[in-house]
Amino acid sequence: MKLQQLHEAQEIPVVQAPLPYKYNDLEPVLSESTVRYHYDVLTTNYFKKYHAGEGDREFNRAGGLLHNLYWTQLRRPRPGNKPHGASLALIEQKHKSWENFQDLVIAAALGIQGSGWVYWSTSGEIKTIANHAWRSDIIFCIDCWEHSYMRNPNPDKKHHFTTIWRCMNWDVINDRVFVAL
Ligand SMILES: [Fe+2]
Repeated sequence: MKLQQLHEAQEIPVVQAPLPYKYNDLEPVLSESTVRYHYDVLTTNYFKKYHAGEGDREFNRAGGLLHNLYWTQLRRPRPGNKPHGASLALIEQKHKSWENFQDLVIAAALGIQGSGWVYWSTSGEIKTIANHAWRSDIIFCIDCWEHSYMRNPNPDKKHHFTTIWRCMNWDVINDRVFVAL
């Protein structure tokens, strides 16, 4: 089954994915305080509200599922962390170079007014989402809500979007690209 079909399937479980690392593993890119609050409180609340029938059902479902993709695509920061394999091939095919791709994603993230997400689509395009809304073509997504970086020692928006790359787990992202092919 292709990634888009998986994402569109109604049976996609609305269950919070376990954090695949410790709360402080993403430092210094994301502080322990950031991860604890963002994962334990904010992310958990989308699932709680969805299952309790509180608020907007689709908003809470999308909020939960987008965060599942986000948390599971990260890992301990690595110096010189770069895409490889299928991810790099798709990036170079659609956006010429890894450096150019990063610049485009950062520009899209900085262009979001208020809250939202920027994501890399299965088509190779860079797309955005206002607030929370589910999309069936996400390979990776970057949370652009202020809560994703405001508890970091340096809570600067541009700094966050230029350093988050150190934590991207390209092995996980490659698996998503392979499923999407
Ligand atoms: Fe978030």
